[in-house]
Amino acid sequence: MIVSGRSSQSLAAALAADLGESLADIQRVRFPDGEIRVGVDLDGSRIDAGERAILVAATTTHDAFVEALELQDALGEAGVAEITTVLPYMGYARQDRAFEPGQPVTARAMARAIASGTDRVIVVNPHEEAITEFFDVSCTTVDAASRLAIPLPDLADPVFFAPDAGATALAETVRDAYGTGAVDYFEKIRQSGEEIEISPHDTDVRGRDVVLVDDIVATGATMAETISILGERGAGRVFATCVHPVLAGNAYTQLVRAGVEAVYGTDTIERPVSAVSAAPAIACALRERT
Ligand code: R5P
Repeated sequence: MIVSGRSSQSLAAALAADLGESLADIQRVRFPDGEIRVGVDLDGSRIDAGERAILVAATTTHDAFVEALELQDALGEAGVAEITTVLPYMGYARQDRAFEPGQPVTARAMARAIASGTDRVIVVNPHEEAITEFFDVSCTTVDAASRLAIPLPDLADPVFFAPDAGATALAETVRDAYGTGAVDYFEKIRQSGEEIEISPHDTDVRGRDVVLVDDIVATGATMAETISILGERGAGRVFATCVHPVLAGNAYTQLVRAGVEAVYGTDTIERPVSAVSAAPAIACALRERT
């Protein structure tokens, strides 16, 4: 049985189809004080003995986090034998250390809460692999980056660029899936939440199509700055790709104003730019574990 958080309905449906599993009916109630109650509609029947559930819930918002915890609890209450929680996108995961005394390790706090209601966890492309250690149950990761090559058109002498060194492996993955092209990365220094300084490397991009690859586009500041620099350096078309299209605020507008040809993301966060599904990559990981 696949159980979907509200923010992951398309992905959960795609996973159910891929795995040949049923898709659970979900009941949602919002109370006058703003609290929510989310459960699985079993239509009065008892859960089959030995039933296993796969909860698919991107924790993109506070409500989505609460929903995921409630759904885990509802499944346990209903007597499900094993719960696997898939976090297509794990919110709050980027604060993976206390950068100053007094700060929380937010990723750890969230991981502990999620781990308390499940038997195992699968996270798609976390910002840092090390966050898997914050879960008190088995936690593995799935790399959905190769899916980003699918919507790309035919490219002219392409360069796959990571906006920072940390995303170079992702750029290589997309290049490998596309089949041809160079890989390079930019040096990035983040001055604040929305201010960044980017220094390009030496790859000559004049007249060449460029595919930018990152794990996440949040405010869009990183990608927009990179796209502008590539434009100044005479690049051909610039495509922005990411696994997690958070696209907060006016991020998409920023990318368009910077001159992007197209933006492609996966459905780990369901957005208009979610041109490709991460479901096959997640299904593969789930099959390996059964
Ligand atoms: C940072 O290291 C990540 O890989 C992304 O580059 C970053 O989180 C993107 O954030 P924003 O869109 O706000 O620049």
